[in-house]
Amino acid sequence: MKALLVANWKMNLSLAKATILAGALRDFVNSSRMLTKDKKLAVAPSAVMMGDVRQALIGSGIRLAGQNCSANEAGAYTGEVSAESLLEYGCDYVILGHSERRKYHMETSEEVSKKSEAALKNKLTPIICIGESAEDRKNGFVIERITKELNLSLPNVLYDATSIVIAYEPIWAIGSGRVPSIEEIREIMELIAHIARRKFSFRLGEVTILYGGSVTPENSRDILKIPGVGGLLIGGASIIYEQLVQIIELAFKEDAALT
Ligand code: 13P
Repeated sequence: MKALLVANWKMNLSLAKATILAGALRDFVNSSRMLTKDKKLAVAPSAVMMGDVRQALIGSGIRLAGQNCSANEAGAYTGEVSAESLLEYGCDYVILGHSERRKYHMETSEEVSKKSEAALKNKLTPIICIGESAEDRKNGFVIERITKELNLSLPNVLYDATSIVIAYEPIWAIGSGRVPSIEEIREIMELIAHIARRKFSFRLGEVTILYGGSVTPENSRDILKIPGVGGLLIGGASIIYEQLVQIIELAFKEDAALT
Protein backbone atom coordinates (compact mmCIF):
# COMPACT_ATOMS: atom_id res chain seq x y z
CA MET A 1 0.00 0.00 0.00
CA LYS A 2 1.22 3.44 -0.96
CA ALA A 3 1.16 5.78 2.00
CA LEU A 4 2.79 8.66 3.78
CA LEU A 5 2.88 8.61 7.57
CA VAL A 6 3.77 11.85 9.33
CA ALA A 7 4.62 11.88 13.03
CA ASN A 8 3.81 15.32 14.41
CA TRP A 9 5.70 15.50 17.67
CA LYS A 10 4.36 19.01 18.36
CA MET A 11 6.06 20.61 21.42
CA ASN A 12 6.52 17.23 23.09
CA LEU A 13 9.61 15.25 24.09
CA SER A 14 12.84 16.49 25.64
CA LEU A 15 15.88 16.57 23.39
CA ALA A 16 17.12 13.34 24.99
CA LYS A 17 13.79 11.57 24.50
CA ALA A 18 13.40 12.84 20.93
CA THR A 19 16.82 11.57 19.89
CA ILE A 20 16.27 8.21 21.62
CA LEU A 21 12.91 7.82 19.85
CA ALA A 22 14.44 8.83 16.51
CA GLY A 23 17.28 6.34 16.99
CA ALA A 24 14.83 3.56 17.87
CA LEU A 25 12.75 4.34 14.77
CA ARG A 26 15.89 4.29 12.64
CA ASP A 27 16.81 0.85 13.97
CA PHE A 28 13.26 -0.40 13.45
CA VAL A 29 12.92 0.73 9.84
CA ASN A 30 16.44 -0.45 9.01
CA SER A 31 15.81 -3.94 10.35
CA SER A 32 12.27 -4.26 8.98
CA ARG A 33 13.09 -2.63 5.62
CA MET A 34 9.59 -1.30 5.40
CA LEU A 35 10.20 2.06 3.80
CA THR A 36 10.19 2.36 0.02
CA LYS A 37 9.63 5.10 -2.52
CA ASP A 38 5.88 4.72 -1.97
CA LYS A 39 5.90 3.94 1.74
CA LYS A 40 7.23 7.00 3.46
CA LEU A 41 7.61 8.01 7.07
CA ALA A 42 8.38 11.56 8.18
CA VAL A 43 8.90 12.93 11.66
CA ALA A 44 8.25 16.53 12.62
CA PRO A 45 10.23 17.45 15.75
CA SER A 46 10.30 20.96 17.18
CA ALA A 47 12.60 23.22 15.20
CA VAL A 48 15.35 23.39 17.84
CA MET A 49 15.70 19.60 17.81
CA MET A 50 15.89 19.28 14.06
CA GLY A 51 19.69 18.93 13.91
CA ASP A 52 19.92 16.24 16.59
CA VAL A 53 16.96 14.27 15.28
CA ARG A 54 18.41 14.47 11.78
CA GLN A 55 21.64 13.05 13.11
CA ALA A 56 19.81 10.19 14.84
CA LEU A 57 17.91 9.32 11.64
CA ILE A 58 20.90 9.15 9.31
CA GLY A 59 20.79 6.17 6.98
CA SER A 60 17.17 5.28 7.77
CA GLY A 61 15.27 6.88 4.91
CA ILE A 62 12.95 8.50 7.47
CA ARG A 63 12.20 12.03 6.31
CA LEU A 64 12.10 15.22 8.33
CA ALA A 65 9.29 17.75 8.45
CA GLY A 66 9.08 21.21 9.97
CA GLN A 67 6.00 22.07 12.03
CA ASN A 68 5.73 25.56 10.55
CA CYS A 69 7.69 28.06 8.47
CA SER A 70 7.60 31.75 7.75
CA ALA A 71 6.01 33.13 4.61
CA ASN A 72 9.03 35.44 4.36
CA GLU A 73 12.34 34.50 2.82
CA ALA A 74 14.60 36.02 5.51
CA GLY A 75 14.98 39.18 7.54
CA ALA A 76 13.81 40.86 10.73
CA TYR A 77 11.21 38.29 11.83
CA THR A 78 12.16 37.40 15.39
CA GLY A 79 11.20 33.91 16.43
CA GLU A 80 10.40 32.72 12.92
CA VAL A 81 11.92 29.82 10.98
CA SER A 82 12.45 30.17 7.24
CA ALA A 83 11.62 27.49 4.70
CA GLU A 84 15.21 27.75 3.49
CA SER A 85 16.63 26.88 6.90
CA LEU A 86 14.31 23.86 7.13
CA LEU A 87 15.65 22.75 3.78
CA GLU A 88 19.21 23.25 5.04
CA TYR A 89 18.40 20.96 7.96
CA GLY A 90 17.36 18.28 5.53
CA CYS A 91 13.58 18.62 5.75
CA ASP A 92 11.46 17.34 2.88
CA TYR A 93 8.15 18.55 4.29
CA VAL A 94 6.66 21.31 6.37
CA ILE A 95 3.33 21.11 8.18
CA LEU A 96 1.37 24.32 7.59
CA GLY A 97 -1.86 25.73 8.97
CA HIS A 98 -2.21 23.16 11.73
CA SER A 99 -5.33 24.01 13.74
CA GLU A 100 -3.15 24.63 16.79
CA ARG A 101 -1.31 27.35 14.85
CA ARG A 102 -4.56 28.75 13.55
CA LYS A 103 -5.96 28.81 17.09
CA TYR A 104 -3.00 29.95 19.21
CA HIS A 105 -1.17 32.05 16.63
CA MET A 106 -4.16 33.42 14.74
CA GLU A 107 -2.84 32.06 11.48
CA THR A 108 -5.21 32.76 8.61
CA SER A 109 -5.74 30.65 5.52
CA GLU A 110 -4.28 33.48 3.42
CA GLU A 111 -1.06 33.27 5.47
CA VAL A 112 -1.03 29.49 5.11
CA SER A 113 -1.27 29.94 1.33
CA LYS A 114 1.71 32.33 1.36
CA LYS A 115 3.69 29.99 3.59
CA SER A 116 2.98 27.10 1.24
CA GLU A 117 4.34 29.18 -1.64
CA ALA A 118 7.50 29.92 0.39
CA ALA A 119 7.84 26.19 1.08
CA LEU A 120 7.43 25.24 -2.58
CA LYS A 121 9.98 27.87 -3.59
CA ASN A 122 12.44 26.17 -1.27
CA LYS A 123 11.70 22.66 -2.52
CA LEU A 124 9.76 21.62 0.56
CA THR A 125 6.45 19.78 0.27
CA PRO A 126 3.86 21.70 2.27
CA ILE A 127 1.43 19.57 4.29
CA ILE A 128 -1.55 21.91 4.36
CA CYS A 129 -3.90 21.22 7.27
CA ILE A 130 -7.59 21.93 7.25
CA GLY A 131 -10.50 20.77 9.37
CA GLU A 132 -13.83 21.78 10.83
CA SER A 133 -14.63 22.63 14.45
CA ALA A 134 -17.15 20.81 16.64
CA GLU A 135 -19.44 23.79 16.18
CA ASP A 136 -19.24 23.63 12.37
CA ARG A 137 -20.13 19.99 12.63
CA LYS A 138 -23.04 20.60 14.97
CA ASN A 139 -24.40 23.28 12.67
CA GLY A 140 -23.96 21.22 9.52
CA PHE A 141 -21.26 23.51 8.04
CA VAL A 142 -18.56 20.90 7.45
CA ILE A 143 -18.62 21.09 3.65
CA GLU A 144 -18.70 24.90 3.64
CA ARG A 145 -15.86 25.19 6.15
CA ILE A 146 -13.60 22.70 4.37
CA THR A 147 -14.31 24.21 0.95
CA LYS A 148 -13.56 27.75 2.07
CA GLU A 149 -10.54 26.91 4.22
CA LEU A 150 -8.93 24.73 1.60
CA ASN A 151 -9.50 27.12 -1.30
CA LEU A 152 -7.90 29.96 0.68
CA SER A 153 -5.04 27.88 2.12
CA LEU A 154 -3.78 26.33 -1.11
CA PRO A 155 -0.84 27.96 -2.88
CA ASN A 156 -1.65 30.07 -5.89
CA VAL A 157 1.32 28.75 -7.82
CA LEU A 158 1.69 25.04 -8.35
CA TYR A 159 3.28 23.03 -11.09
CA ASP A 160 2.70 19.50 -9.95
CA ALA A 161 0.01 17.91 -7.78
CA THR A 162 2.58 15.66 -6.19
CA SER A 163 4.39 18.66 -4.72
CA ILE A 164 1.74 19.30 -2.06
CA VAL A 165 0.03 17.19 0.59
CA ILE A 166 -3.31 18.07 2.19
CA ALA A 167 -4.16 16.87 5.69
CA TYR A 168 -7.75 16.63 6.87
CA GLU A 169 -7.76 17.02 10.63
CA PRO A 170 -11.15 17.69 12.19
CA ILE A 171 -10.36 19.98 15.14
CA TRP A 172 -12.72 18.09 17.43
CA ALA A 173 -10.94 14.82 16.67
CA ILE A 174 -7.48 16.06 17.68
CA GLY A 175 -6.40 14.57 20.98
CA SER A 176 -10.00 13.69 21.86
CA GLY A 177 -10.10 9.97 21.12
CA ARG A 178 -13.00 10.62 18.74
CA VAL A 179 -12.82 10.13 14.97
CA PRO A 180 -15.33 10.73 12.18
CA SER A 181 -17.09 7.71 10.69
CA ILE A 182 -15.54 5.92 7.74
CA GLU A 183 -18.24 7.37 5.52
CA GLU A 184 -17.63 10.91 6.77
CA ILE A 185 -13.90 10.66 6.11
CA ARG A 186 -14.53 9.18 2.64
CA GLU A 187 -16.86 12.07 1.77
CA ILE A 188 -14.33 14.70 2.85
CA MET A 189 -11.53 12.94 0.93
CA GLU A 190 -13.67 13.17 -2.19
CA LEU A 191 -14.45 16.82 -1.51
CA ILE A 192 -10.78 17.71 -0.99
CA ALA A 193 -9.69 15.89 -4.16
CA HIS A 194 -12.44 17.66 -6.08
CA ILE A 195 -11.46 21.12 -4.80
CA ALA A 196 -7.77 20.52 -5.51
CA ARG A 197 -8.54 19.24 -9.00
CA ARG A 198 -10.75 22.21 -9.74
CA LYS A 199 -8.18 24.69 -8.49
CA PHE A 200 -5.20 23.21 -10.28
CA SER A 201 -6.84 21.13 -13.02
CA PHE A 202 -4.38 18.42 -12.09
CA ARG A 203 -2.77 17.03 -15.15
CA LEU A 204 0.31 15.89 -13.35
CA GLY A 205 -1.00 13.36 -10.88
CA GLU A 206 -3.23 13.25 -7.84
CA VAL A 207 -2.66 15.12 -4.63
CA THR A 208 -1.91 13.05 -1.50
CA ILE A 209 -4.49 13.51 1.25
CA LEU A 210 -3.79 12.50 4.85
CA TYR A 211 -6.21 11.94 7.70
CA GLY A 212 -5.25 13.19 11.18
CA GLY A 213 -7.02 13.26 14.56
CA SER A 214 -6.84 10.57 17.27
CA VAL A 215 -5.11 8.04 15.01
CA THR A 216 -4.17 4.92 16.99
CA PRO A 217 -2.95 1.41 16.20
CA GLU A 218 -6.58 0.31 16.73
CA ASN A 219 -8.15 2.59 14.12
CA SER A 220 -5.31 3.19 11.64
CA ARG A 221 -6.00 0.04 9.64
CA ASP A 222 -9.63 0.98 8.94
CA ILE A 223 -8.78 4.61 8.19
CA LEU A 224 -6.05 3.63 5.72
CA LYS A 225 -8.54 1.47 3.84
CA ILE A 226 -10.84 4.43 3.12
CA PRO A 227 -10.69 5.39 -0.58
CA GLY A 228 -8.79 8.64 -0.99
CA VAL A 229 -6.80 8.38 2.24
CA GLY A 230 -3.14 8.55 1.24
CA GLY A 231 -1.69 8.37 4.73
CA LEU A 232 -1.90 9.58 8.31
CA LEU A 233 -0.86 12.59 10.33
CA ILE A 234 -0.26 11.25 13.80
CA GLY A 235 0.02 13.25 17.02
CA GLY A 236 -0.18 11.57 20.43
CA ALA A 237 0.49 8.04 19.19
CA SER A 238 3.60 9.21 17.35
CA ILE A 239 5.56 10.01 20.51
CA ILE A 240 5.09 6.50 21.89
CA TYR A 241 7.50 4.12 20.17
CA GLU A 242 5.35 0.98 20.48
CA GLN A 243 2.27 2.72 19.10
CA LEU A 244 4.02 4.38 16.19
CA VAL A 245 5.77 1.17 15.21
CA GLN A 246 2.46 -0.68 15.28
CA ILE A 247 0.91 1.93 12.99
CA ILE A 248 3.90 1.71 10.63
CA GLU A 249 3.55 -2.08 10.51
CA LEU A 250 -0.19 -1.91 9.87
CA ALA A 251 0.36 0.58 7.07
CA PHE A 252 3.41 -0.93 5.40
CA LYS A 253 4.09 -4.51 6.39
CA GLU A 254 2.00 -6.62 4.06
CA ASP A 255 -0.79 -5.49 1.80
CA ALA A 256 -2.56 -8.57 3.08
CA ALA A 257 -2.53 -7.20 6.62
CA LEU A 258 -4.92 -4.49 5.52
CA THR A 259 -7.49 -6.67 3.83
P1 13P B 1 -3.64 13.40 17.83
O1 13P B 1 -3.21 12.24 16.98
O2 13P B 1 -2.96 13.48 19.16
O3 13P B 1 -5.12 13.51 17.90
O4 13P B 1 -3.13 14.73 17.05
C1 13P B 1 -3.43 14.86 15.72
C2 13P B 1 -2.66 16.00 15.19
O5 13P B 1 -2.92 17.14 15.54
C3 13P B 1 -1.56 15.71 14.26
O6 13P B 1 -1.15 16.85 13.60
